[in-house]
Amino acid sequence: MSAAPLLRLDGVSVQYGSGETAVTALSGVDLEVDRGELVAVMGASGSGKSTLLTVAGGLAAPTSGEVIVDGEWLSSLSPKRMAALRRRSLGFVFQDFNLIPVLTALENVSLPLELDGWRTRRARSAARDALADVDLADRASHFPADLSGGQQQRVAIARAVVGDRSLVLADEPTGALDSTTGEAVLRMLRERVDAGAGALLVTHDARHAAWADRIVFLRDGRVVDESRAASVESVLA
Ligand SMILES: Nc1ncnc2c1ncn2[C@@H]1O[C@H](COP(=O)(O)OP(=O)(O)O)[C@@H](O)[C@H]1O
Ligand SMILES: [Mg+2]
Repeated sequence: MSAAPLLRLDGVSVQYGSGETAVTALSGVDLEVDRGELVAVMGASGSGKSTLLTVAGGLAAPTSGEVIVDGEWLSSLSPKRMAALRRRSLGFVFQDFNLIPVLTALENVSLPLELDGWRTRRARSAARDALADVDLADRASHFPADLSGGQQQRVAIARAVVGDRSLVLADEPTGALDSTTGEAVLRMLRERVDAGAGALLVTHDARHAAWADRIVFLRDGRVVDESRAASVESVLA
């Protein structure tokens, strides 16, 4: 295992648009996430949290600066290698689940592996294990519409971590959930991180941020503070 961080953002800036209507969403952000580390990102609406996750996952390129995932400089990757890195190493969890309605829970979770060339039987087997990890083994053949919001969100988490993706990027994954289900989702994420993944978690809930090893605060696209979770609980109380 290398000493380099799993994720490194080096002087990352993101500007949307140009000229008079340009918006600076991120400004000179430096950030590292190690394996085994869960980093929470907090900040007001519009402070750049979602943009941070988008560039960290290679879904958009920064206007300047570098993003390095697992030693790979994203700016140097061809679109094909970038897509492969996203499928193999990165898992995304967004608030609106993005489950495919015509696929069962099991098929939703195994899809990324099958797209990556895994044989169907092996992909389905890994997907079944991931669903069991989120306590949904008995819902594998259900369609998203037949699952509760919390169950759908757990399917989304299973899909984000299946196949041992090393970096999980979660944008307010507990937003639509009641607090008990939200805690279960966080515990799940924490377990994956303790097993060696790294994660960036956007949240506005201090109780959820308390699951993190470190909290990064964004204001107007800049990192304004980084705190250890233990002390942050008192700051946010
Ligand atoms: N696609 C876009 N085009 C133009 N401006 C955008 C776009 N996405 C986000 N922004 C702007 O960038 C800033 C940061 O947005 P965002 O990253 O979504 O913040 P957060 O997730 O913290 O609410 C905001 O001012 C927002 O309006
Ligand atoms: Mg956002």
